[in-house]
Amino acid sequence: MATTPLPVNPDGTALKGIRGQVLTFKADPFLNNEKECYDYYPDGLIVMQDGHIINVGDYTAVAKLYPQLKDIDTYTDAVIMPGFIDCHVHYVQSPMIGSFGDTLLQWLNEYTFPTEAKFKDKAFADEVARMFFRQLLEQGTTTANVFATTFATSVDAFFEESERYNTRMISGKVLQDRNLPDSLKDESAEESILLTEKLLKKWHHRGRQLYAIIPRFAPTSTPEQLQLAGELYQRYIDQGVYMHTHLDEVQSEIDWVTQLFPDQPNYTEVYKHFGLVGRRSVMAHCCIVREEEWQELHRCECGVAHCPSSNLFLGDGEFKYWEAKNPTRPVRVGMGTDVGGGTNFSIPRQLNEAYKVAMLQMKNLTAIKSFYLATRGGAEALHLENTIGSIAPGYEADIAVVDLKPSEFAAWRMKFSDDLFEKLFVVMTLGLNNVNLATYVAGKKVYDRSRTPSHLYASEIPDTKISEK
Ligand code: GUN
Ligand code: ZN
Repeated sequence: MATTPLPVNPDGTALKGIRGQVLTFKADPFLNNEKECYDYYPDGLIVMQDGHIINVGDYTAVAKLYPQLKDIDTYTDAVIMPGFIDCHVHYVQSPMIGSFGDTLLQWLNEYTFPTEAKFKDKAFADEVARMFFRQLLEQGTTTANVFATTFATSVDAFFEESERYNTRMISGKVLQDRNLPDSLKDESAEESILLTEKLLKKWHHRGRQLYAIIPRFAPTSTPEQLQLAGELYQRYIDQGVYMHTHLDEVQSEIDWVTQLFPDQPNYTEVYKHFGLVGRRSVMAHCCIVREEEWQELHRCECGVAHCPSSNLFLGDGEFKYWEAKNPTRPVRVGMGTDVGGGTNFSIPRQLNEAYKVAMLQMKNLTAIKSFYLATRGGAEALHLENTIGSIAPGYEADIAVVDLKPSEFAAWRMKFSDDLFEKLFVVMTLGLNNVNLATYVAGKKVYDRSRTPSHLYASEIPDTKISEK
């Protein structure tokens, strides 16, 4: 990770600073001594320009390098962190979050599919995208790896809203041509791939947007669709296109896959067979994974999204980080809300559930490991660890500000803990409401809890050039 400050660009935007306790991760605490995996500045200063971080360090040392820096937001009783990263979420399920779920397959049929069918209507998709982004930014999430649904309207609505905030987002059309209602089904495998390529060409690398090829999961695609999706992925893999799907979530799903693809030795091999496993493949859940599958996920540098809130809600399986992070073949892991299977949009609240999932299996999860998963771990899972997920020179300036005193009780409780990570453990474990004070996206404060209006699009926050100051 770069530590050398970037030079000030004399033709760029005016410098902006954020001052307070700063915490950022630089290595994986599952594989290294925890204490060596982060940088912490009790009174830190982040200097930003043109949407990037140009310097970070102790306030007194850094401030004197920038006499022209006047615009500084200062936070006390808060921890300034990289924006949270949600590695797996369905924005199209926002309208049915909290729907009764008996089993995954019942819940999909009864609530999910009928809701997703409504996204043919662009106005409906626009309304949901708007609300979804407001929720994410309120929770301090600045990047997400997102399922849209079958229709181009659902993809356009999502990326259009992302462009308004200038967020770095990954999304795409969902491929699904069997075992679901006609109202949601692709017309044909060929047509679905042509539409995918058209959307990919429209959105991939447009501003900060990135495209993912998304077969929903093996049971809802014909072998023909999986084959064409794999060929498309292989054609675009070197241009940074993603493959995003579900894998090994619950035993009934795995049994179904075994029945549908009897020639493949395991679920991962089904995707592999069709060319869908590679760098920038992101697999959601991975609760019930065989050793051979972990080895393949490691070998192919795949990312895995741990979605504990959803796994508990749907009674799936229990993720095993100690399997994923086996030091002989570690896998990249980040957190996912999996809304609407997940029951809230908050990454810190996922950490609370992740801790309990580990405890049920006689393990634990420290605050250091947890907040790494929420930030840099997520960036690694998405192969964006040189771009987002850390606060260091050259990184995109996506930042969350975690309030340590969001309520009277929280303020009182914090009096009894001195250590930063003890405090952060309280934040995640109590699932504190309203815990994010402000969210910066590419250096602009697009969310501020105490501002009216709380959310602003990037274009509503003027850019001032240094030369105009
Ligand atoms: N498997 C296939 N589709 C879905 C979905 O929408 N949510 C979850 N949790 N699992 C899935
Ligand atoms: Zn999902």
